[in-house]
Amino acid sequence: SRFTFASNRPNVMSAFNEEKVLSVHHWTDRLFSFTTTRDPSLRFSNGHFTMIGLRGDNGKPLLRAYSIASANYEDHLEFLSIKVPDGPLTSKLQHIQVGDSIIVGKKPTGTLVTDYLLPGKRLYLFGTGTGLAPFLSIVRDPDTYDRYEQVIVVHGVRQVDELAYHDLLTEHLPAHEVLGELVSSKLRYYPTVTRESYRNMGRITDLIENGKMCNDLGLPQINAAEDRVMLCGSPAMLRDLKVMLEHRGFKEGNTTTPGDFVVERAFVEQ
Ligand code: A2P
Repeated sequence: SRFTFASNRPNVMSAFNEEKVLSVHHWTDRLFSFTTTRDPSLRFSNGHFTMIGLRGDNGKPLLRAYSIASANYEDHLEFLSIKVPDGPLTSKLQHIQVGDSIIVGKKPTGTLVTDYLLPGKRLYLFGTGTGLAPFLSIVRDPDTYDRYEQVIVVHGVRQVDELAYHDLLTEHLPAHEVLGELVSSKLRYYPTVTRESYRNMGRITDLIENGKMCNDLGLPQINAAEDRVMLCGSPAMLRDLKVMLEHRGFKEGNTTTPGDFVVERAFVEQ
């Protein structure tokens, strides 16, 4: 009957949608990603995060903030997560299977949005660990390439196998039916590893300070006149990079006043 819809959906009036897991990919024993269905009413800007989680045994939701890695025109949602064996949420979330339910907050928000940056020549996206996630949404947005001549994703990780989405950034996006041409001409990817040997090694902070990253990329050293920056990572990474950028004359932007760089914590540490 016409009343079953409402009675089957006890959460329609709540702050959350219930979504189904569509796929799960385990990158390493510390890192996994998954996709879910997307309620058609969910609206977000590329770069936003939202609360997601699981319903606990007592019915109370267990939630954390997650950046949305999929783009806002896609009909699914995608998330990248760490796994912490005794983490309240991720110890459970890491076991999700296709068909399971997760809850997704209806009000995505955040500062990693190109609207909150002043115009510029190049956009640098600096992420460590799961801090890559919001940038996967941003590089899948054609509007990003309208705004900048070049977009440079810099991903810092401990081990080579933590370079999640390496193939998306180097192979799949450049070959993408719609985005391929823009990506091939404008997107650069600079992965760097700190605890194993790799072609690029060292922390992002050091690679900026010693000039190696920009030299490797064949680009001018990062400067506030031409470059705009987004940061997503651990509190320590954000603090160190913010200091470096401010030292170079970059001004921080926020949702009310655009600037030369914007910052978001890669939230989930448990
Ligand atoms: P390192 O191996 O030297 O700690 P994590 O997995 O702990 O979030 O780290 C992800 C990457 O971020 C690692 O390569 C780590 O380097 C690096 N990192 C940690 N702290 C900072 C920082 N303050 N500035 C820049 N990079 C950092």
